[in-house]
Amino acid sequence: MPHDFMPGLAGVPAATSSISDVDGQRGILEYRGIRVEELCAKSSYLETAYLLLFGHLPTQGELQRWTNDVTHHRRIKFRIIDLMKCLPEQGHAMDALQAAVAALGMFYPGRNVKDVENNYWSAVRLVAKLPTIVAAWARLRYGDAPIPPRDDLGFSENFFYMLTESVPHPLWAEIFDDCLILHAEHTMNASTFTGLVTASTLADPYTVVASSIGALKGPLHGGANEEVVVMLKEIGTADKARSYVEGVLGNKKKLMGFGHRVYKVKDPRATVLQGLCQSLFKECGSSPLYEVALEVERAAGELLKGKGIHPNVDFYSGIIYDKMGIEVDLFTPLFAMARVSGWLAHWLEQLRENKLFRPDQIYSGEHNRPYVPLAQR
Ligand SMILES: CC(C)(COP(=O)(O)OP(=O)(O)OC[C@H]1O[C@@H](n2cnc3c(N)ncnc32)[C@H](O)[C@@H]1OP(=O)(O)O)[C@@H](O)C(=O)NCCC(=O)NCCS
Repeated sequence: MPHDFMPGLAGVPAATSSISDVDGQRGILEYRGIRVEELCAKSSYLETAYLLLFGHLPTQGELQRWTNDVTHHRRIKFRIIDLMKCLPEQGHAMDALQAAVAALGMFYPGRNVKDVENNYWSAVRLVAKLPTIVAAWARLRYGDAPIPPRDDLGFSENFFYMLTESVPHPLWAEIFDDCLILHAEHTMNASTFTGLVTASTLADPYTVVASSIGALKGPLHGGANEEVVVMLKEIGTADKARSYVEGVLGNKKKLMGFGHRVYKVKDPRATVLQGLCQSLFKECGSSPLYEVALEVERAAGELLKGKGIHPNVDFYSGIIYDKMGIEVDLFTPLFAMARVSGWLAHWLEQLRENKLFRPDQIYSGEHNRPYVPLAQR
């Protein structure tokens, strides 16, 4: 049966899902029907992860159990740490994360994905252990010992503690938690789709998440947040922003942190992140990168007027992480740490009515070619 080919599967539904929804014209993002702005104002990352995974806001008892389970599964096996010690320290943190997550699957009996109880514990482990892996890698590559998690600290506080061995300012932990909420889920994007393709073979969830991490790494997806900070540092000062943007657009290149397949207005997550930047700077002083970013946004707004290209989620997030002293190549791993709950929510949803992904192709090659012997080529 002939089909229209849609490059990048643009506009082609790959699933029916009740997890999240984007209105790209009005700039609205909802998780299970709740606006992300409201979740940032009232919820926590762990509560939002529960909402995504299980479809409803947890009761007090449910939240207590979920928080307790995640908190007590943050530790990683010494063999995972040993594995990371063997990786080249100049390698990308996303590659280390992908390798460690794939290896996690060898330690846990998560193979039978029809077992609901097993699936719950796989979700707990993955949500709990990704931050520990990211923080461990951040230290191991400098020859420093990983810092074990502290059970008395909340999810975001503990992440900073494992990274720096000190408990962060409560505002930092709060802002970071909001960043995780904003990155937790985003409908049918490249990494979610990649995970679902892997999941459709009934592969275990560690393999599913490792596949998604691979897709998230690229600069057209999660990797853009790193490129934005590199770009802002390259521009240096706000007065150079306009000529830089003119140069990029004049050379028909893409401005990193701008544009989106679905949003044709400013990404609502970029708006919230910009507000978070301002709250952070009020407490800790501004960042020169922010001044440059504002000018880039202003110049791009004028030069790309009417094209529907506006700041996306990656434009302001890196400025926050940079101000918090987090290294640039950890930005995408932070994205993965948050998005794992969205990936797993889609995995659980798909398992209820799984069908192996097996798309079609339009063959554009030849037929009936003769085999030419090597000596005659
Ligand atoms: C995200 C992205 C891949 C989505 O793009 P898409 O839906 O595939 O759209 P296209 O790449 O086909 O772009 C459509 C048009 O908008 C332009 N455009 C899109 N994003 C642009 C950007 N960031 N800077 C300048 N122009 C851009 C393209 O050049 C193209 O123009 P044309 O029609 O004159 O040729 C794209 O916007 C991009 O590469 N952005 C930069 C990377 C980034 O920030 N990624 C994070 C996404 S959350």
